[in-house]
Amino acid sequence: MNQKPDEIMEMARRRGFIWPSFEIYGGVGGFYDFGPLGAVMKNKIIQKWREFYVIREGFFEIDSPTITPEDVLRASGHVDHFVDAMVECNKCGEAFRAVDLAREQADVDIEGMSKTEMEKFLETKGVRCPECGGTLGKIFYFNAMFRTTIGPGSKRVGYLRPETAQGIFIDFKRLQRHARGKLPFGVVQIGKGYRNEVSPRQGIIRLREFTMAEAEVFFDPKNPTHPKFSKMAGEQIGLWLATDQMKNRQHITRITVEQAVNEGLVCNKLMAYYLALTKRFLLELGIPEEAIRFREQTPGQRAHYSKETWDAEVSTKRFGWVEVAGLAYRTDYDLSRHAKFSKEDLTIFYGGEKVLCHVVEPSYGIDRPFYCVLEHSYTSEGKRKLLKLKKWLAPITVGVFPLLNRDGLPEKATEIYDQLKSEGFMVEYDDSGSIGRRYARADEIGTPYCITIDHQTLVDNTLTIRDRDTAAQVRIPETELGKTLQALVQEKISFDSIGEPVKK
Ligand code: ATP
Ligand code: GLY
Repeated sequence: MNQKPDEIMEMARRRGFIWPSFEIYGGVGGFYDFGPLGAVMKNKIIQKWREFYVIREGFFEIDSPTITPEDVLRASGHVDHFVDAMVECNKCGEAFRAVDLAREQADVDIEGMSKTEMEKFLETKGVRCPECGGTLGKIFYFNAMFRTTIGPGSKRVGYLRPETAQGIFIDFKRLQRHARGKLPFGVVQIGKGYRNEVSPRQGIIRLREFTMAEAEVFFDPKNPTHPKFSKMAGEQIGLWLATDQMKNRQHITRITVEQAVNEGLVCNKLMAYYLALTKRFLLELGIPEEAIRFREQTPGQRAHYSKETWDAEVSTKRFGWVEVAGLAYRTDYDLSRHAKFSKEDLTIFYGGEKVLCHVVEPSYGIDRPFYCVLEHSYTSEGKRKLLKLKKWLAPITVGVFPLLNRDGLPEKATEIYDQLKSEGFMVEYDDSGSIGRRYARADEIGTPYCITIDHQTLVDNTLTIRDRDTAAQVRIPETELGKTLQALVQEKISFDSIGEPVKK
């Protein structure tokens, strides 16, 4: 991409990808709407994720409530641990995340420090209120879950779920029966997650309500591998190891997933397999390989349930490296806690003994990859601005344009438009302004192909099809249109191969 990030956001708002929610009431930080184009594209990302995890991995998908009773989240540790350490300014009363202040004013990561260590650190470094310069008070903890009550009265406390994962752990007994005793088996859930983020100032990178796509892979701790590991073993990934981060080294270890396991850098083959799969998913969305890395969380940064976590990160111009997915080795933490709190036996009988399954969790957000895709796709060539989305990902696949608004061309174009819709294509009919303007509008939203109906169409039933990336045009028979478009979108044929270019 060679466009300025601000220009991308402006385009995204103007053309109907995303915009701030509740705009006519002044907006509320951390909430965004997906407009007509954005909603289609977001659903396509979700569908691609399903293709990877539900269809190809064979995982089961469930759909559980977003409101969760307190008991569940007490057992999962979120009531006690899903907290941010905060400080309040003694003068103006503004509150800040201690970790942010330490990073901004002392360039040190204090995540994982105890309350007293943080207080001492802020004091010795002379960290002050960034708004008014006032001194700071004691550290206090802010739980990032949205709290509510279930039913009338205030007795039954609930929270909007901070992750979809708990819905899966709760259903473990039923799900393992569904898997008919097979290990490993995986379960996914796609849906909203809610976090009352302290300062959501980064567009759709930090939302208070966002879409998650999570997979929980249950396995026997004695056999932490994937049946198809050998197919993935040679995949190269870039790792930013915790040891390098702690020494302030920017070094990326480029290694195959098999070597990463053999050298003890990644905890097991199952985790390594999903690191590789995550890379493949991001490539499929159109993120270039050099913009993808896996950052190992340092012990202080890891969530309470994790023994090892890798953040899949994508490089962006606007926000630097952005975490788009977190892959955690959750061990038997969740199942053992739910067994203890619910008093249900969550072990299974496997390989002749009782086993409490361990879990590797690939947890993706959908909104962050959405932004990264926009940024990496938006580009300009001379005066032309275009969104070079992967063809399958473009919200509109084909534009249908009558060259003129007379001589029977609109009637013919409408017929073709209806035909393409009946074949399942997302089509846009555009008859306003010059043909050049119509192409420009289509390029800007990433429409890969545009069809123009002209006088020759009425004579011989051929039409021109134009390629977004090269602006080349080819004339093809109307009868071949649907089949050709399908093959082009699936990248089964190249545009050059469909016919002779039309001279402009
Ligand atoms: P961060 O450190 O940036 O707050 P996180 O480590 O809390 O992120 P996870 O808990 O690993 O994130 O959540 C899994 C995924 O959910 C993330 O990789 C990200 O894609 C998405 N996600 C998490 N928080 C948000 C948010 N506030 N807005 C949008 N997406 C989010
Ligand atoms: N389920 C992963 C997370 O919420 O962090």
